[in-house]
Amino acid sequence: MRCPSDPLRIGIAGLGTVGTGTVRLLQTHDELIRSRCGRHIRIAAVSARDRRKGRGVDVSAARWYDDAVAMAGDPELDAVVELVGGADGVALALVRAAIGEGRHVVTANKAMMAERGCELARAAEQAGVTLAYEASVAGGIPVIKLIREGLAANGVSRVYGILNGTSNYILSVMRESGREFDDVLAEAQALGYAESDPSFDVDGVDAAHKLAILTSLAFGCEVDFGAVHIEGIRHVSAMDIRYAGELGYKIKLLGVARRTDEGVEQRVHPCMVPAESPIGSVEGVYNGVVAEGDFAGSLMAEGRGAGAGPTASAVVADLIDIARGNRPPTFAVAASALAPSRPLPMDSHRGPYYIRLTVVDLPGVIADVTAIFRDFEISIESIVQRGRAPGETVSVVMIVHETAEAAMTSALARIAKLDSVTERPQMIRIEDF
Ligand SMILES: NC(=O)c1ccc[n+]([C@@H]2O[C@H](COP(=O)([O-])OP(=O)(O)OC[C@H]3O[C@@H](n4cnc5c(N)ncnc54)[C@H](OP(=O)(O)O)[C@@H]3O)[C@@H](O)[C@H]2O)c1
Repeated sequence: MRCPSDPLRIGIAGLGTVGTGTVRLLQTHDELIRSRCGRHIRIAAVSARDRRKGRGVDVSAARWYDDAVAMAGDPELDAVVELVGGADGVALALVRAAIGEGRHVVTANKAMMAERGCELARAAEQAGVTLAYEASVAGGIPVIKLIREGLAANGVSRVYGILNGTSNYILSVMRESGREFDDVLAEAQALGYAESDPSFDVDGVDAAHKLAILTSLAFGCEVDFGAVHIEGIRHVSAMDIRYAGELGYKIKLLGVARRTDEGVEQRVHPCMVPAESPIGSVEGVYNGVVAEGDFAGSLMAEGRGAGAGPTASAVVADLIDIARGNRPPTFAVAASALAPSRPLPMDSHRGPYYIRLTVVDLPGVIADVTAIFRDFEISIESIVQRGRAPGETVSVVMIVHETAEAAMTSALARIAKLDSVTERPQMIRIEDF
């Protein structure tokens, strides 16, 4: 029988960036942590693939497991920390096994929480253990706590944010330098800010994982990753970023979740946001999340969304909660009470749009374009031809008033077929806050 002041004994699976960061933090702040939760947190077991790999931290006092899933059965452990990664495979098997053995779980794994979150939350609830995942969304920013604990008394209508530091870094450098996406991506890879396979980051999947988790938390509905509309930043050009600046906007990869009477909209795509807005000021590798509560108003948290230190900070905060006995429901309401997600299709989205057309500079071209918009009842706020080059191609930039996505995509499909339009029309949604 354990007494409440006994150390919390943990096993850590995964000793990579986040795993070694977590070990280092626990060792550095051992006494501070004890003073804050009344007990030590002891690393009793660890697991990774290669036992001989140098890791820059001392885990020699911990039992080593070649098989991470077997570590879940270690009878001494109170909690298992999953820092392996991946939506399934070893990570999922380990978490299922740990919950099945009645151990608390802490994870930084957004892919697993986005795709298996409901199943795991139900299992944890039935087993009477905590499933904590602060590090899985926006790294060091305590956004799970902000929504689940800080806004516990509020109805939340919208949550949005910059949820991927790599994309935000690339868009920030493109804006500052005027360079194109491919060039900046290659530099980011050389500097270690982007993975050699960057698709999860720049194609919006990573941000979508995090958004699906936030949506469930904010609205008390099932995590529904499949319902997220996902677009990445590969098609954003230096020209669009420059025009956005002239119009008073910045282009950001945003995740937006909104609840209406009809259902829940979840979307990740490049957005034009007012340059002077709080979210427009989040630059470089930083993340920013805004949650709108009906009594608290709009709250924004900004900080480092990745990296060993910030992510370990979130992992250990979860461990401290477990050591203190804080046991909030995984997704803010009992897992058994999570509502169906009621996804809204992207076609039903309404908002203003930025459109850029590449057209041959001939009389009548703009009249053809505006006639198509008229047919779809789309109203134009401004239309500017950039440059004058009779017979050559020029850009035409338009801002259209709030309109339905379905009308906009149909109109653009017709515009793309005009002989005078030489490239696929560019469309970027505008988000006004
Ligand atoms: N990196 C970040 O900034 C960050 C931020 C937020 C969330 N996360 C999440 O945190 C998790 C870990 O990310 P990371 O960046 O730390 O990854 P990482 O550096 O690649 O580390 C992964 C670790 O898992 C171990 N591992 C792989 N397969 C294993 C297996 N079959 N059994 C036992 N251990 C195994 C690896 O062992 P070896 O070292 O022996 O190869 C390695 O130590 C992921 O879910 C990620 O999405 C990361």
